[in-house]
Amino acid sequence: MISPDPAALRSATPVVDNWLDAGWADRELRADVSVGLSSSPKELPPKWFYDDRGSELFDQITRLEEYYPTRREREILELEADAIAAASGADCLAELGSGTSTKTRILLDAFASAGQLHRYVPFDNSEATLRNAAEELVEAYPGLRVHGVVGDFEHHLGRLPLDEAERPPEAPPRAPAMVILLGSTIGNFSPAHRPAFLDAVAGATQTGDTFLLGTDLVKDADRLVAAYDDSAGITAQFNLNVLSVLNRRLGADFDLEAFEHEAVFDAHNEWIEMRLRSVRAQRVHIPALEMTVDFAAGEPMRTEISAKFRPEGVRAELGAAGLVTQRMWTDAEGDYALTLARRVRRD
Ligand code: AVJ
Repeated sequence: MISPDPAALRSATPVVDNWLDAGWADRELRADVSVGLSSSPKELPPKWFYDDRGSELFDQITRLEEYYPTRREREILELEADAIAAASGADCLAELGSGTSTKTRILLDAFASAGQLHRYVPFDNSEATLRNAAEELVEAYPGLRVHGVVGDFEHHLGRLPLDEAERPPEAPPRAPAMVILLGSTIGNFSPAHRPAFLDAVAGATQTGDTFLLGTDLVKDADRLVAAYDDSAGITAQFNLNVLSVLNRRLGADFDLEAFEHEAVFDAHNEWIEMRLRSVRAQRVHIPALEMTVDFAAGEPMRTEISAKFRPEGVRAELGAAGLVTQRMWTDAEGDYALTLARRVRRD
C-alpha cells in the first residue's frame, strides 16, 4: 500500500501580512473625527462603529427578523455557490472585509467540491479577527493556502496578493482569481466615491479575473427603515456605540443618553441614512483633539449611509470600471443581488 505523503496532510500555516503601521488607525480616527465634527451637518464615518462591542452588536443585527440583507445574501449563496464557482473559473478567492469569513465558507465549500480551491486571500483591518479566521480555515480546508492581508481596502487595494508569487513576464497567464465584497458593504461608500473604489478593485485584478459584489436593492421604504430601526433597539445601540468609541479612544465626554438614534430612507439618493440626534443643546469635549463641539437642540449628526441599488445601476457602475457583468443572481423576493463581473482589458 502506498502511504500518503504526510506533508500533504498537514495543514498549511497561514501567511498574514500587516500593511497597517501601529499608529495608522489612530491617525485615521483623529482625522475623521476632527473633519467630521467640524463640518456642517456633522458627520462620523461608519467604519468606527466596529470595536469589539460594535462588532458584537452588528452580529446581533444580522440575526434580527427586520434585518433581511444577511439572510438574503446567505440564501443566494447557498443556492448559487456552485454556479458562482463554475462561472468564475477561479482557483483563488480574495475577500475584502473578510471578518470571520463565515459566509465565505459557503463559497469555499463549492470551490472545494469543484476541485477549484487553491488559495484564499482574506483582507481585513483587524489582525486578531483575520488571524483567527485564517487558522480555522487552514484546518477546515486541507490543502488551502491562506495569505491574509491586514489593511484598509479603501486605501491599500493596490497590492492585493492575487498572485501566489512573482511571475516572470513571459509566464503563461495564471488561473483567474475572484475578488469578493459581500454584505452590501459597498453601500457605505458615498456614490461619489464608488467609481474610484471600483477602479481600485479593477486595478487590483488582471484581465479575466472576476469580482463578486453583494448589493442590497431598493425596495419599499417601510421595510428599509425597519431594517435600520429594529423594534428591539439593537441598531440604536449599535449607532450610539460610536460615541463610546470616541469616549474611550479620544477621551471624549459624549453623553449617550443625550443622543437619539434615527434611520430615514432618502428616496432621492436611494440610501438609508442613520443619524444621532442631539436631544438638547450641549457641549462635548474631545481632549485628544483639543476640540470642543457644540450641538444645538435637535441637531442631527450623520453616522452612516447605506446605499440601496438597482440591478441596472450595479451593472452600469461596474461596467464603468471595466468590470463586465457576467451574471446577476437575486433572491425570489428581489431583495438582494449578487453580481459576478469580469475584468476586461482596459487601455
Ligand atoms: C455592514 C454596511 C452592510 O449598511 O446594512 C447595519 C451596516 N448599519 N445596520 C448596512 C449596518 C446598520 C451594514 N453594512
